[in-house]
Amino acid sequence: AAIEKGGYDHFMLKEIFEQPQTIFDSLRGRLDAKQGTLTLGGIRGEYEDMLKNAKRIIMVACGTSWHAGLIAEYVIEELCRIPVEVEYASEFRYRNPVIGEGDVIIAISQSGETADTLVAIEAAKKKGAIILGVCNVVGSSIARLSHAGAYTHAGPEIGVASTKAFTAQLAVLNMIALKIAKDRGTITDQRYQYLLNELDAISDKVATALKLSDSIAAIAAKYKDARDFLYLGRGYNFPVALEGALKLKEISYIHAEGYPAAEMKHGPIALVDEHLPVVFVATKDSYYEKIVSNIQEIKARKGKVIAVVTEGDETIRGLADDVIVVPEADELVAPILSVIPMQLLAYHVGVQKGYDVDKPRNLAKSVTVE
Ligand code: G6P
Repeated sequence: AAIEKGGYDHFMLKEIFEQPQTIFDSLRGRLDAKQGTLTLGGIRGEYEDMLKNAKRIIMVACGTSWHAGLIAEYVIEELCRIPVEVEYASEFRYRNPVIGEGDVIIAISQSGETADTLVAIEAAKKKGAIILGVCNVVGSSIARLSHAGAYTHAGPEIGVASTKAFTAQLAVLNMIALKIAKDRGTITDQRYQYLLNELDAISDKVATALKLSDSIAAIAAKYKDARDFLYLGRGYNFPVALEGALKLKEISYIHAEGYPAAEMKHGPIALVDEHLPVVFVATKDSYYEKIVSNIQEIKARKGKVIAVVTEGDETIRGLADDVIVVPEADELVAPILSVIPMQLLAYHVGVQKGYDVDKPRNLAKSVTVE
């Protein structure tokens, strides 16, 4: 087992550290920034046209994969101007959803075996929907049921809490968004090339962020005895906050809630006092000024602020109790990077509390019952 873990204490940590490679592997042979090209071999011919002409895109997934879908909603709407909905597979399946011509469903699943996702797309397929699969396991049930798709190339994920599959999903969903935008003509050549470059550069930035592991372990030690955590973000980083809270819940058994930073005023702010750590995903993007004022609102109520910020950010450094500094990246690809500290924080808290982070209680790697 020690050999399988490649010298790491846990599969989860090994998989977190594999991400520069697994993101690279997911882009390889598809994205060529130098040539300015993007090819997705699994989405061709009639399916390529259906995707390009989609009236609506519906993401169907569970758990961490659902968070990847939420980020893709923001990216696809921004770049492609197609309305996107993101559905929990279990809810979508049982409420007799409206599905019509021109709807394309993107099923996102690491295992490709999650029962809720599988039955949801089975039902939608019967109603005539086109299904694209974004799966990690080749030949899995969801991959086989899909009309077309693009695999994530994250390799086998053993840790029950998903890490490297998530960033691979984001890489693939970003490529799908860029491809649709290019095919539809909703992106300028200049921005297209710029975003290809940004996506191409992200795995190196992830490698840089991984060097923060020890300093994040020190932050974990400071807050590991908290009863609750709040995670806040806006825009592209809002689903990253949700994912941060999910990771912490899964492996440290600390109650954590993720929220859109502004929406906090409508409820969670009532919980803020000097005992509550609040994690802000606050990298430099078009929401930056707004999130700075949300941080001030938390500090005014004596909450403890742990902020993930972009290199060179002195404003938030001056406000927060702890900062985690990541390289600069365009906001559309930034979640691939800003989620790394979320994963590391949850990992270190879980380990310091003495839990088996690879096999958290009550959770299964793949939920194959409805
Ligand atoms: C389980 C796992 C999660 C995962 C979710 C969806 O709950 O513990 O890590 O995100 O299932 O799994 P899938 O294989 O469909 O992505």
